[in-house]
Amino acid sequence: MILLERLEQLYAIGGGPGANRLGGSAQEDEAHELVAGWMREAGLEVERDEAGNLYGRLAGRRPELPEVWTGSHLDTVPAGGRFDGALGVVGGLEAVERAGQQERSLAVVAFRDEEGSSGPGCVGSRAVCAALRDPRPAAFVELHIEQGPRLEEANAPLAVVTGIVATARGEVVFEGREGHAGTTPMAGRSDALVAAAEFVLVLRDAAAAVDGAVATVGRLAVEPGASNVIPAEVRVSVDVRAADLERVDEVLAVVPAELSRTAEVEMAPELVEVLREQLAGLGVPVLELASGAGHDAGILAAAGVPTGMLFVRSLNGGISHSPHELSGPKDIAQAVTALEGALTRLAASVDE
Ligand code: GLV
Ligand code: MN
Ligand code: MN
Repeated sequence: MILLERLEQLYAIGGGPGANRLGGSAQEDEAHELVAGWMREAGLEVERDEAGNLYGRLAGRRPELPEVWTGSHLDTVPAGGRFDGALGVVGGLEAVERAGQQERSLAVVAFRDEEGSSGPGCVGSRAVCAALRDPRPAAFVELHIEQGPRLEEANAPLAVVTGIVATARGEVVFEGREGHAGTTPMAGRSDALVAAAEFVLVLRDAAAAVDGAVATVGRLAVEPGASNVIPAEVRVSVDVRAADLERVDEVLAVVPAELSRTAEVEMAPELVEVLREQLAGLGVPVLELASGAGHDAGILAAAGVPTGMLFVRSLNGGISHSPHELSGPKDIAQAVTALEGALTRLAASVDE
């Protein structure tokens, strides 16, 4: 299966362990170059926008007509998996190639810096949405791995996404006073890392108290960062998610900083329906799921582009943002067929 070989080629960029193509890095650029080559091989016209997002467009389209887009991102978290983002681009490319036999108003897009290792993420899709011009895309359909255990538990290969949770991301800075680790009595210290550690526990408890909310501190930067110096400053990353902004804000009540907040979004009901029909046509269970992970699809949906998402079962207990991320070839093949069907349907109504 050429798609799986392509995922391996992308995974090899940057060396291991895991995928290492951080947003804004030379490795993300290399992935975009590689995919641009595959787009050209498929006979697509390759374009890039000012934000560096990559588009593969069908030749012979009518530029005055809106396009149906599919795609995802090529950047990864540090030591990430093979499938997060990359599947939506290489699977989207294959689906566009196949659907392009019948319909022309189709494009596959690779957005820049979705993970946002040093910011709120979805940098490329936010830039696209800030500059949407007529004709705006008629629809966007993102194929993605589930990144959770629910499809594996339900013994189902695919799901239609109904919406994406609300999020808040940012950083809290704790200030202390540096000093000698051996000579400063415990009573006289102002240790920024002790304050940060207490905050991490308070945040965990605040999230646990709100239905369905999750909160994560994934990065600490300790200054001056020596084993014999009392920490003078600690920067703590904060990532909070819940079904809606109201619940996110309940957790944020314990966070002493302004974070960047993104409201929950719903997928377009007409696209949910188109994707449901594709799953029914494949004879697989027609499941619906809300996404706990963020996606470029959320940015396009919030900008008013009719948006849908298709999830593929994650194996290994649904682990993601890890080299252990896994999805099966048969599930992936079914997902690409469902995506092809949905793109053909959607583009047919544009081309009419
Ligand atoms: C993207 O992977 C996210 O953080 O949800
Ligand atoms: Mn991710
Ligand atoms: Mn992703």
